[in-house]
Amino acid sequence: MVALARALAGPWLAGLLAATACGGAEPSPTGAACPSPDPLTLTWDSFGRDFMARFCTACHASDLPRSQRNGAPIYHDFDTLTGVLQVVDHVDEYSGAGPAATNTIMPPDRCPATPGAPLSIACPRPTLDERRQLSVWLACERARPHPLIDAGID
Ligand code: HEC
Repeated sequence: MVALARALAGPWLAGLLAATACGGAEPSPTGAACPSPDPLTLTWDSFGRDFMARFCTACHASDLPRSQRNGAPIYHDFDTLTGVLQVVDHVDEYSGAGPAATNTIMPPDRCPATPGAPLSIACPRPTLDERRQLSVWLACERARPHPLIDAGID
């Protein structure tokens, strides 16, 4: 019985430690740049929404109350372009890749199987190429006009 408990607790504890360790690396700006002129190939509709839905909004969504976010900070909601733009540098520094840095802090190791549920599965992780695309998209999006957001209306 003790052996069984150890066998069960071992991987569980290891998973817990890994999940709280937060990747270990420092969040760093990637230095990614948008091609000039902006080719408009990476947009919220063609890239951002899908990326966020696959990797982030299980914890970071505006419809998730604090109790269902698995610790994800409030005001870090990535179910809208506005939400991403409000913390655009943080997204780059936690999940993006570019000439100056490759950040793999987010997503963490353990994820809910459905948005807001308890942590139970390994998080799907973006490929390096997807992280590079994320940072280029963010760089482009920063430079695009966002009249309502720039006016503080969102
Ligand atoms: C399993 C839930 C979960 C998922 C999925 C997840 N996060 Fe997080 N996120 C957290 C938690 C918990 C924290 C707070 C602890 C920390 O900073 O590591 C956090 C913190 C952050 C922060 C830092 C906020 C600050 O204080 O500046 C950013 C930025 C972030 N996440 C972005 C993302 C992005 C982008 C994705 C998708 C690629 C993502 N997260 C996926 C749970 C999650």
